Amino acid sequence: MPPARPKVLGLAASLRNARWGAGSEKLVVDLATLPDKAALLAYLTKESERHLENFLEAGRRAGKDFLEIYRNLNKATGEAGLSNSEVALAAALWAALREGADIGHLSLAEFFTASGDVRRPDVLRRRLLEADAILLSGPVYFGDRGSLAETLVDFIARDDELRTAVAGRLYGGIAVGAKRNGGQETTLIYQMMDMLGLGMLAVGNDSDTTAQYGGTGHAGDVGTMHKDIYGIDTSMGVGRRIARVALALAEGGPLADRPRVAFLVLQDVDGIAQRTVDELLERLNRRMHATVVNLTTKSIRRCLACDICPTHIDTDDVYRCIITSSGDDLSDLHAELIQHDILVPVVATSHDRRRMISNYQTFIERTRYVRRGDYVWSDLLVVPLGLTEGIAYDSYPIRMLTSFLRHHTVLSRPLVARIVSGRAEGIDDLADGLATAVGVSERLVSGRLLIATQPDHRYNPVGYVLSANKDAEDEKLQRRRAMIEDRARRAEREAATRVAKPRAKENVVRS
Ligand SMILES: Cc1cc2nc3c(=O)[nH]c(=O)nc-3n(C[C@H](O)[C@H](O)[C@H](O)COP(=O)(O)O)c2cc1C
Repeated sequence: MPPARPKVLGLAASLRNARWGAGSEKLVVDLATLPDKAALLAYLTKESERHLENFLEAGRRAGKDFLEIYRNLNKATGEAGLSNSEVALAAALWAALREGADIGHLSLAEFFTASGDVRRPDVLRRRLLEADAILLSGPVYFGDRGSLAETLVDFIARDDELRTAVAGRLYGGIAVGAKRNGGQETTLIYQMMDMLGLGMLAVGNDSDTTAQYGGTGHAGDVGTMHKDIYGIDTSMGVGRRIARVALALAEGGPLADRPRVAFLVLQDVDGIAQRTVDELLERLNRRMHATVVNLTTKSIRRCLACDICPTHIDTDDVYRCIITSSGDDLSDLHAELIQHDILVPVVATSHDRRRMISNYQTFIERTRYVRRGDYVWSDLLVVPLGLTEGIAYDSYPIRMLTSFLRHHTVLSRPLVARIVSGRAEGIDDLADGLATAVGVSERLVSGRLLIATQPDHRYNPVGYVLSANKDAEDEKLQRRRAMIEDRARRAEREAATRVAKPRAKENVVRS
């Protein structure tokens, strides 16, 4: 059977959008004709410059005031040019298409009018319902998204059917700002939080440009985004990443065994985090194989910030941090930290820091060797669990998301509860949230394993190398190859035992 082709829908949240209606369809057709990155860049340059020309023709060249230019731009057919955030979105969609997804494009300005009305809501709903994944690209406004992206979040959140449908589907973001530190990352993080809140799963960009929060463009003036090649690369990275995970989810089905869940208790207050994990295990033990690692009782030394990390190239089962002293427990824990399907970092927080015992930050920094060892935690589902005595000032759920996403993982809605009278309030809700994530991970794991065993599967780790010169040495290359082969063999072994055999199709002869 040919592999499933998931649908990735690109949504442009630009108020300076150049494309709408038939122009969106035309963009998708055009992208499919571009054979390589050079052709893509040439196309993006042409369309970006065309957009500047749209402005000039609409009155900028003649020195007209902006209201008149704006009115003239609105008379256009929406078939030529690309605004800055549309350029980045087009790059991401092209990359998703090349990775094996079907793509679509919609401009939110076409639906959400300036007066606040929603034009043709049924069309937008249908397209959202059909999409396996959405890529949302927009400008940075005041270090955050603009009003079109905000309206999209509202549109989904206020519609029960849409909300139910998007739960468990994928989201990836792209933000374009005029300044280098204009708030691209803050925009991506806030937006990711809202999409996770809607029950979506979130991915960042891939390891080509080092795994971060999505596409980040640096372009201000009309018609300039095509010059930011790094920004285009990050956008292509989120396109590839969303397509790759969508493919796994589309291929995936039940597992023959149960998902392997690692609870990492990183910070506790009077044992509440550990007790909450125990309660969750009582409820869900039959749905998963759980390992609980209570890091608050371990000794985790600070990272040394080595210039070469990990110490050497080897297979994933080898501990490769330079810290091996007897006063540090991480080398002993290494085996517990790999070979899981879900990571649940657990943090309890108090108003009174004196009651907190924590290895949170030291542990996070010490995971550097895991990340730089070619992203050992790639594609794992991460479900942060945050318990707090005071929600207002607790940043841990967000920090867990942003640190773990850099491990090239897939994020699921954080489970957050208030601590009341020494217990997590709403344990049933936490258990429901975790059970949902366990169900998603079955599909993710089985799909990933199935894809890994397909003959034309390419696994090219593009992660960190020790250093460009050193990596060029034959020995290093061989070790790298051995590491890749070891991963492939492990995936094959796991696929043989863990992926449930598809049920035989009904064999009925109908006359
Ligand atoms: C109201 C407003 C607020 C903005 N705020 C920021 C900002 O906080 N940081 C930034 O880098 N750029 C900011 N910009 C610049 C836009 O993000 C930038 O021009 C972007 O390229 C627009 O994308 P577009 O052409 O796709 O609409 C702002 C622009 C406007 C109109």
